[in-house]
Amino acid sequence: MKIAILGAGNVGGALGKGWSAKGHSVYFGVPEPQSERMQALLKSIGANARAGSVQEAAANAEIVVFATPWNAAQNAIATAGNLAGKIVIDCMNPLAPDLSGLVLGHTTSAAEQVAAWAKGARVVKAFNTTGAGNMADSRYAGGKLVMCIAGDDAAAKKSVSQLAADLGFDPVDAGPLKNARLLEPFAMLWIYLAVKQGLGPNIAFQLLRR
Ligand SMILES: NC(=O)c1ccc[n+]([C@@H]2O[C@H](COP(=O)([O-])OP(=O)(O)OC[C@H]3O[C@@H](n4cnc5c(N)ncnc54)[C@H](OP(=O)(O)O)[C@@H]3O)[C@@H](O)[C@H]2O)c1
Repeated sequence: MKIAILGAGNVGGALGKGWSAKGHSVYFGVPEPQSERMQALLKSIGANARAGSVQEAAANAEIVVFATPWNAAQNAIATAGNLAGKIVIDCMNPLAPDLSGLVLGHTTSAAEQVAAWAKGARVVKAFNTTGAGNMADSRYAGGKLVMCIAGDDAAAKKSVSQLAADLGFDPVDAGPLKNARLLEPFAMLWIYLAVKQGLGPNIAFQLLRR
């Protein structure tokens, strides 16, 4: 698929690398496409990836992934231009600066705010509930890691589930987009355990069934 990834940091870089390796066409949209860091990432990925402005990347894509800090989200969405009809994946967590909590939640979510800003887009919440290191390498001896996916458009969720499976995750339909109200605090739990509780980034959630 033709995927724009807006933001090429920990999350954007990991997703872009993995999807490029699976044959998807990845177009990073960043404020400075010629930066040393962006060029080094492209070099490490090889074929199937390029970088340009946020607008260029989004215009060419079927799927647009938002992987910027939350405080850059509104600007990135406005710069991306018309997203109507496109699948938009929201990976962002609306974190308070010191990781003390979320700046919104309970009665709304970052994903619902993204949907309000990105008019007509088919917004899906995914790739927010585990660390970027797990997105770069999801292999654990205990089996596949869960990737919860919330959204209101069934076909969009199916495409995003395939993208999660491409990275080795166990994709699970977590219901409508408003369930991002559950997924964003769930991410906060991962962050708490990894950072504040000192367990480190090599931890992940799994969904067991019997
Ligand atoms: N890190 C994790 O483990 C993790 C896990 C799940 C979800 N998340 C969420 O994913 C998002 C990204 O996290 P991250 O750790 O990847 O952050 P990061 O490493 O700081 O990367 C952020 C990226 O966004 C770019 N950016 C900033 N403003 C932008 C704009 N207006 N338009 C386009 N790109 C812009 C930055 O470019 P410059 O470097 O040029 O500023 C950078 O490439 C956050 O919302 C975070 O809550 C993170």
